[in-house]
Amino acid sequence: METEIFIEDIAQYAGEEVTIKGWLYNSTGKGKLQFLQVRDGTGIVQVVAFGPELDEETFETIKRLGQESSLIVTGPVRQDERAPGVPGGFEIGLKEIEVLQEVDGYPITPKDHGVEFLMDQRHLWLRSSQQWAAMRVRATIKRAIIDWLDDHGYINIDTPIITPSAAEGTSTLFEVEYFDDTAYLAQTGQLYNEANIMAFNKVYCFGPTFRAEKSKTRRHLAEFWMVEPEIAFCDLDCLMEIEEQFLSYIVKRVLAERQDELAVLERDTTLLQKVTPPFPRIGYDEALERLAAIREETGDPELKELLQIEWGEDFGSPHETELTKQFDKPVFVYGYPTQVKAFYMEPWPGRPEVCKSVDLLAPEGYGEIIGGSERMSDPELLIEAIERHDLPREHYHWYIDLRRYGSVPHSGFGLGLERTVAWICGLAHIRESSPYPRTLKRMNP
Ligand code: 4AD
Ligand code: MG
Repeated sequence: METEIFIEDIAQYAGEEVTIKGWLYNSTGKGKLQFLQVRDGTGIVQVVAFGPELDEETFETIKRLGQESSLIVTGPVRQDERAPGVPGGFEIGLKEIEVLQEVDGYPITPKDHGVEFLMDQRHLWLRSSQQWAAMRVRATIKRAIIDWLDDHGYINIDTPIITPSAAEGTSTLFEVEYFDDTAYLAQTGQLYNEANIMAFNKVYCFGPTFRAEKSKTRRHLAEFWMVEPEIAFCDLDCLMEIEEQFLSYIVKRVLAERQDELAVLERDTTLLQKVTPPFPRIGYDEALERLAAIREETGDPELKELLQIEWGEDFGSPHETELTKQFDKPVFVYGYPTQVKAFYMEPWPGRPEVCKSVDLLAPEGYGEIIGGSERMSDPELLIEAIERHDLPREHYHWYIDLRRYGSVPHSGFGLGLERTVAWICGLAHIRESSPYPRTLKRMNP
C-alpha cells in the first residue's frame, strides 16, 4: 500500500512506496531513462522513469510531458546522496503516473527572462524555486515574529487600516474616499498601539501598511507588512535590548527551519549565524564621524561625493551601506536629529535638536530594517510638535489624551517584514520578498 506524502517529509519514507501529487518542474531524458523533477509545493523530488518497466504508451507520454503538467506519481523512495531536489538526497522510481493535465508552452522556462517579464508573470513565477524558497522563509519569519512576541507577554491588538490622519509624514499618504470624507491608508499602527499599551501593557500589531513612495529603490514598496511592538515603562535602552533579542530569535528560527530554502537561494549563512545579542550601538554624531573618516580614506571620488553629509541630514542608502560594512552584525544608530524624524519622538534630555530615536541597520548593504523610538510623554511638548509639523490638531486629540491620563515613558518599534526577508534571503531587490509587490510602477497581477 502506497502512502500519500509531501516531498518535504520524504526522508521518513526511504524504502517505502509513496504517492506524490504535484507539477512537473523540469524533465530530461537519456535513452530508456527519463528524469522528472516534480514539485508539490513543499519541495522538489527527482522521479526516475525507466522505459522497460513501463508500458510503451506511458513512457511516450512521460517523455512528451511539458513543464507544469499536473500529475500524480507513485513509486518506491530510494535514498541516493546525488539525487537533486529540495531537500534532495532521495528519488522515486516511477511505477505509476496519472496525468491530470498535459501542459504545453508554459511561459517561464529554465532560460533567463527579464525581471519585468517575470513580475508580469508573478502568479506563475511564484512556482520557481528561488521565489518559492523566499516565500517559505517569509512564512517562517512571520511565525517567528508572532511566537516570540506571544511568548514574551505581548498581546496582539489590531489597529485600523483606514485612518483620518498621518503619522509618518504627509508626503507618502494614500488617499481614499470615505463616504463624504477623506481618509488615508495606515502608514503605521503605532499611534493606536500607544493607546493600547495604556490598556494592555505590552502590545503589538502586525499587518499591511501603505506608503505612496514616489521613489524607485531596491528598498521601497508601496504596500508592506510591518510588525510593531509597543511597550509601556520602557526607555530607549530597554527598546534596543528588546529589538536585538527579537531579531536574533527570528534569524535563529530561519537558520534552524529553512536551511534547504536558504540553499536554494544560495545564501551564505555565515553572517546570519553571527546575529546574536548584543548588537553594536552608535550615536548619530559618531556615525557622522565614521562617515567623515571613510571619506578621508577613500580614493574613490564618487564614494566621497555620495557620502557627503551635514549634521542634521538623514542618511541615504550609501551612508547606511558604508556604516554597516564596519560591523558584521546589525548595528543600532540612535539619537538622530529631530528634524529628520517623525513628530512623536521624545527629545534627548538637554538636546532638543536630537530625539530618542533608534534605527537598526542590517549588514551587507540592506540598510534600515527597524525604526523605533521612545515616545513623547509630555502633553504640552506633543502639542508643540503637532503644530510644528502642521498636522490637523482635531485628529490628534485622542493621542494627546494619552499624555493627560496616566502618561508613562514608553517606546516601540516597527520591523519591516519585506526588508527583513530580503536581507535574510540575500535578495537583490525588495520586490522578490513580497508575493505580489506593489511599487510606483506596478500593481499587477
Ligand atoms: O521607520 P518607519 O517609518 O517607522 C514607523 O513607521 C514607526 N511608526 C514604527 C514604530 O515605531 N512603531 O518604518 C519602520 C520600518 C522600516 O525600518 C522599514 O523596515 C519598513 O518599516 N519600511 C518599509 N519597507 C518597505 N517599503 C517601504 N516603503 C517602507 N517604509 C518603511
Ligand atoms: Mg525609518
